Amino acid sequence: MRILFATGNADKINEAAQILEELGHSVEQLMSEAERIEFDEPKNLGLEGVALSKIEQARAMIEGTESADCAILVEDSGIFLHAFDEWPGANSSDVEQELGLDGILDLLTEEQDRGAEYRAVAVLALGERVWKTSGVCRGRISAEKLGGNGFGYDPIFIPDAGDGRTFGQMLAAAKNLISHRRAAMQALAELLKTPSK
Ligand code: IMP
Repeated sequence: MRILFATGNADKINEAAQILEELGHSVEQLMSEAERIEFDEPKNLGLEGVALSKIEQARAMIEGTESADCAILVEDSGIFLHAFDEWPGANSSDVEQELGLDGILDLLTEEQDRGAEYRAVAVLALGERVWKTSGVCRGRISAEKLGGNGFGYDPIFIPDAGDGRTFGQMLAAAKNLISHRRAAMQALAELLKTPSK
């Protein structure tokens, strides 16, 4: 199937392509008049709500174009700190911009739970069919910022499946093997392998 990924992030496209092209699907960026798309993101609806809203917006965008019969893929992700109830979640990027990573480290006192997890939701829509998957990467928040790789919360996130370094200290290839996005895309690939009824 020809899949149009509604994201401006080239790394996400490469990662999805790596996983889904093995199954014979093609993955391309969904473009709007050769420009990157700005979606409305109703963050109060949570990751899945944001993803489903983006699907509807992307559908409206390709209606009546030569891409109208392509599948649309969206992915939304965020970090969830155990010390705070389901926060910042879908608001991760806003919170990161407002507080900065130092501000987030300051919120966590020594007694507080430093557990955290990244979550990703992937939604693929083709006509009336919709496939939804999610992925989780569990870990904890470090005491200080470490490493300059990755983006967002990576310098303060130590994955449980790693060797004690933050994602910021790991190469992209190593992160991508255990990331929440990898898990969501892998689950999507598994679903697509299952013959439809
Ligand atoms: P998006 O869904 O990729 O736009 O991510 C939303 C926000 O969640 C990002 O701006 C980051 O703040 C955070 N986030 C999601 N995934 C990651 C990740 O893999 N590393 C670091 N931050 C992430």
